[in-house]
Amino acid sequence: MTDTRNTARSTARRPVLVVGATGKTGRRVAARLRAAGHEVRAASRSGAWPFDWNDRTTWGPALEGVETAYVVPFDPAPVVRPFVEQAEAAGLRRLVLLSGRGIDDPDYLPGDALAGSTLVDAEEAVRSSGLEWTILRPGWFSQNFDEGFLADMVGSGRIGLPAGDGAASFVDAEDIADVAVAALTGTGHAGLIHELSGPRALTLAEVAAEISAATGRTVEYVALPPEEFVAELVGQGVGAEDAEALATTVSPILRGKDAHLSEGVQRVLGREPRAFGEYVRNAVASGAWVGSESVSEKRGTATFTS
Ligand SMILES: NC(=O)c1ccc[n+]([C@@H]2O[C@H](COP(=O)([O-])OP(=O)(O)OC[C@H]3O[C@@H](n4cnc5c(N)ncnc54)[C@H](OP(=O)(O)O)[C@@H]3O)[C@@H](O)[C@H]2O)c1
Repeated sequence: MTDTRNTARSTARRPVLVVGATGKTGRRVAARLRAAGHEVRAASRSGAWPFDWNDRTTWGPALEGVETAYVVPFDPAPVVRPFVEQAEAAGLRRLVLLSGRGIDDPDYLPGDALAGSTLVDAEEAVRSSGLEWTILRPGWFSQNFDEGFLADMVGSGRIGLPAGDGAASFVDAEDIADVAVAALTGTGHAGLIHELSGPRALTLAEVAAEISAATGRTVEYVALPPEEFVAELVGQGVGAEDAEALATTVSPILRGKDAHLSEGVQRVLGREPRAFGEYVRNAVASGAWVGSESVSEKRGTATFTS
């Protein structure tokens, strides 16, 4: 599995494809690459370069003339496999795949969880390809609280989740982007899986307390039974299937599967991961959680895709 050959290659002359370039990690990866002088093909449905996982006619143009790609996968369908096959045929050499924690743990998510199964398929497709691949397996992103599906809850002052007293070692998307760019542009990452977390696990009550302290507004955590969580979401107009999928996605926290720490940030970057408190301070400085309008709406960013 491990291939530590020196994979140095001049990637600076060709555009780097970023699939999912408007999302939490993709836009940070794109920004870092541009700052380092790379031309970036920022691909997504609303990105500068039109790309839709559901429209294969958009794949070829995105891949043309590209040797290196960062890929944020599409959880609802197993489309990474055909994309990887097409990418290899089109001349792609190096691919960094965003995956997720727990892919190698059969008990992390129930066996029929769609997001988990498509990520397993995506990982297998990448690993069995002839590409110089690197896989990133982060835990829960800190940015879910201001750019993702939890932003509205934080904005309302109540984080209601079926996570009990469970803790998660939230990882900053800034760190994920730093690791991704190292793998995209550096050497020695081919054939490696980087497991990524923050420096410590926090319960949702601790998260709420950190955000309350930094914003001066009261944000509480309410541990909901899964059925109550689903009923609440359905009452807000979310489809029952999506609500149940979200409860399933949160369930590893409840079952203690997300509290452990991973060493990928330290190994790749030679430094400690950013603390959750630093994320909160940066989010506040950039205008998160101001007024009742959620940051996700203000920035137009996507919510959790599972
Ligand atoms: N969030 C977490 O805590 C977390 C933790 C571990 C793993 N992950 C994994 O990371 C991935 C990203 O999840 P996320 O929720 O954080 O999302 P995200 O990366 O913040 O946003 C999703 C990205 O995918 C793009 N996208 C969505 N549908 C698309 C389509 N049909 N065609 C092309 N692009 C599309 C979106 O751009 P457009 O809307 O412009 O198309 C956006 O750039 C998922 O596979 C998830 O399982 C997430």
